Amino acid sequence: MAFPTETVYGLGALATSEAAVGAIFKAKGRPATHPLIVHSANTEEALGLARELPALAERLARAFWPGPLTMILPKTDRIPDVVTGGQDSVGVRVPAHPVAQALLYQVGVPVAAPSANRFGKVSPTRAEHVRRDLGPRTAFILDGGPCRVGVESTIIAFPGGEPRILRPGGVSREAIEAVLERPVGIGGDPVRVPGALASHYAPRARVVTASDAELGAAARFLRRTAHRLIILRGRAVEADRLYESLRKADEAGADVILAELPSEAGLGWAVRDRLWKAEAPRTR
Ligand code: TXA
Ligand code: MG
Repeated sequence: MAFPTETVYGLGALATSEAAVGAIFKAKGRPATHPLIVHSANTEEALGLARELPALAERLARAFWPGPLTMILPKTDRIPDVVTGGQDSVGVRVPAHPVAQALLYQVGVPVAAPSANRFGKVSPTRAEHVRRDLGPRTAFILDGGPCRVGVESTIIAFPGGEPRILRPGGVSREAIEAVLERPVGIGGDPVRVPGALASHYAPRARVVTASDAELGAAARFLRRTAHRLIILRGRAVEADRLYESLRKADEAGADVILAELPSEAGLGWAVRDRLWKAEAPRTR
């Protein structure tokens, strides 16, 4: 079952059911070693999925939930190993979208959900995107309109008790540092974060990124060989438009997409991260 969140659409299964979670991996074509995020209706339930809480986790939960933040926490036995790829930790978040909230309250059990796209492809920010990517592979799709944030949640882990951002996303680094009143580290074990594999979030067309200053020269160069070059800049590469822009360029028959890298401030960091992954040499 697919449902909207404020970040992207998710493909959900009862987190407590091994069979249901197994079906998600199958529908996405996702390797079993890549763990899923567990979604809870409220902060109490979400933190209850952790065996113990790092000192700063509760502060972040109070500041950003419901919202686009995922925290990696030591897991309780309630979460089966299929959800976490056999790891001892679980990623949890409380989504803010009213349809996601209503669904989670109705279901009454945490819901494991990856983004509702085939593994490695562009995430869906509209019900229509899910229908096109996974239509025959999901029982139903709840349509909650376009996603407000448009990039996935920020993932934060606490190795040795210290906060580290594993994936930039819908909550900015600046906002997290303001709440924690300290700088946070960046990066983690790349194997455990598929968004951190070289190629990810990829449209069909080849993607080339350029800074604002390089854009003109890059366009002139690419025009010499591209059949159909589409340039994405400004509003088209803001977080809430990014994935839709990449999809539309594919639909318009682009063989090359030239995308302007926004500044690193706010959600710009997450956009840059996704564009670089889309630009990386394709592994599939
Ligand atoms: O905004 C979002 O986070 C969306 C919506 C649907 O909630 N979900 C999403 O899920 O982006 P997915 O599966 O596409 O990406 C989840 C990321 C993966 O990179 C995964 O490896 C990481 O979260 N992750 C999940 N559990 C983890 C864990 N225990 N340790 C490290 N990384 C984990
Ligand atoms: Mg994904």
